[in-house]
Amino acid sequence: MTHTSVLLTSEQIQDRIRSLAAEIERGYPEGEEIHLVAVLKGGFMFMADLVRAMGPHVTMDFMAVSSYGKGTRSSGQVRVLKDLDSSLEGRNIIIVEDIVDTGLTLSYLQDILRARAPKSVRTACLLSKPSRRQVDVQVDYIGFTIEDKFVVGYGLDFAEKYRNLPYIAVLEQ
Ligand code: IMP
Ligand code: MG
Repeated sequence: MTHTSVLLTSEQIQDRIRSLAAEIERGYPEGEEIHLVAVLKGGFMFMADLVRAMGPHVTMDFMAVSSYGKGTRSSGQVRVLKDLDSSLEGRNIIIVEDIVDTGLTLSYLQDILRARAPKSVRTACLLSKPSRRQVDVQVDYIGFTIEDKFVVGYGLDFAEKYRNLPYIAVLEQ
């Protein structure tokens, strides 16, 4: 039997996102465009709430990368399944991710996006599991630091399910 227990409620997530949005905006000169790049599929819900908590100088784009298959270990090599629609040249980029676990996916993504000559690259992750880290990857904005538990909801899945939960839950087998 699989069941879930709530780790972060919808209210906790929304409160944290409001402060994150304010913190992000304070970090750029007033009026400067901020281009948010969400990593699909996990980052879609975080992106949707984050941009609604931000002002008018926000643009956005989406990319999809392959996750390493079930049972296989991450090589840190990520395949781009859907690339961005527009160039990053000269822009302030924020990568918007659901969770940073080993850090391998994010580290690879940062490298490929930095190679596109943006003005700046920062990263916002809703969740971080620092005890799992394999590479020292920079995350500028972290929603919540959590223990090494498999979580679902608010964009995060287990076998493509639970993404639609408005809260974050721990999946218990
Ligand atoms: P990393 O390369 O190990 O940091 O992997 C990050 C990716 O693994 C995330 O973007 C998620 O798609 C997935 N992932 C890591 N931990 C969890 C979890 O607890 N629940 C659901 N997906 C996870
Ligand atoms: Mg992901």
